[in-house]
Amino acid sequence: MRHVPNLKDFTTAEIQDILARAATIKANPAEYRQLLDSQSMAMLFQKTSTRTRVSFEVGMTELGGHAVYVDWMTSNFVLSGIEYETEYLSRNVSCIMARLMRHEDLLKIIGASQVPVINGCDEKFHPCQALTDVLTISEHCDGELADTHLVYVGVQNNVSNSLVTICDKLGIQLTLGTPAIEDNGESVDAEVQAIIARSDRINHVTDPKQAVQGADFVYTDTWVDMQYFNNPDFADEKEKRVREMLPYQINRELLAGVDCRIMHDMPIHDGYEIAPEMVRHPGSVIFQQAENRLHAQKGLLWWLYEQAGFIS
Ligand code: CP
Repeated sequence: MRHVPNLKDFTTAEIQDILARAATIKANPAEYRQLLDSQSMAMLFQKTSTRTRVSFEVGMTELGGHAVYVDWMTSNFVLSGIEYETEYLSRNVSCIMARLMRHEDLLKIIGASQVPVINGCDEKFHPCQALTDVLTISEHCDGELADTHLVYVGVQNNVSNSLVTICDKLGIQLTLGTPAIEDNGESVDAEVQAIIARSDRINHVTDPKQAVQGADFVYTDTWVDMQYFNNPDFADEKEKRVREMLPYQINRELLAGVDCRIMHDMPIHDGYEIAPEMVRHPGSVIFQQAENRLHAQKGLLWWLYEQAGFIS
């Protein structure tokens, strides 16, 4: 059974298939209102979310199915073994989407589930975001994806790991403009670092001004993981991080002379990773990108349910 812990074991053709399905449903949603008739999906959250929750829930509804929100803290996942609770869930639903703190816990859920499991973002990967991002780029690029230069500016994290994986599969040129990674950082993934080291389409530079040269799309994300952003215990570390990262802020000065689209996976932290005026800049596709979470989830669900043999 196929699961979506990340995009590493997906072939290029499979990713293209999912993206094509997303575009097809987006163009004609009414035709797919019964696609997942009577199917139910559990959405398990250990962390906060706006887009992932809304897009999966609305996506299931618009495909004729149903999504059940399960808050980790108010469910018996806090009391019992993750394997037992997962096996129960998978006997009542046909898909599980989970947003967890730790990738190792997502792998436990995959091990215990009798139905497909989708990673809704953990500390290492955000595969659904990467699918959305490429769908958005395909809609706004002037030529072929393979001729497009995406630049990610910020910190290497779950979002950049998934961008590296998908860009490598699809041959998209990607430049990471980030500080050197900390070897012990929680998002560090050896296979992703190996791709960066071996690929001649994926580069890492530490100078943000150098990174954005020749960009078709400039993408940024939070400098501080969501669970730490408003945590008083993390205040000193956050202040240090912000001081170090200010040169990487997406603002008019950084993008002076660069003719590019601006991307951000949201939520936006105004005045941190992006200056407020760049969010509504004419080159911004941030809200189109966020809307595309819905369409990309639908394409993924269609593909995954078909792979599982739940629909034909
Ligand atoms: N981009 C993203 O995953 O948004 P949420 O955290 O709001 O789900």
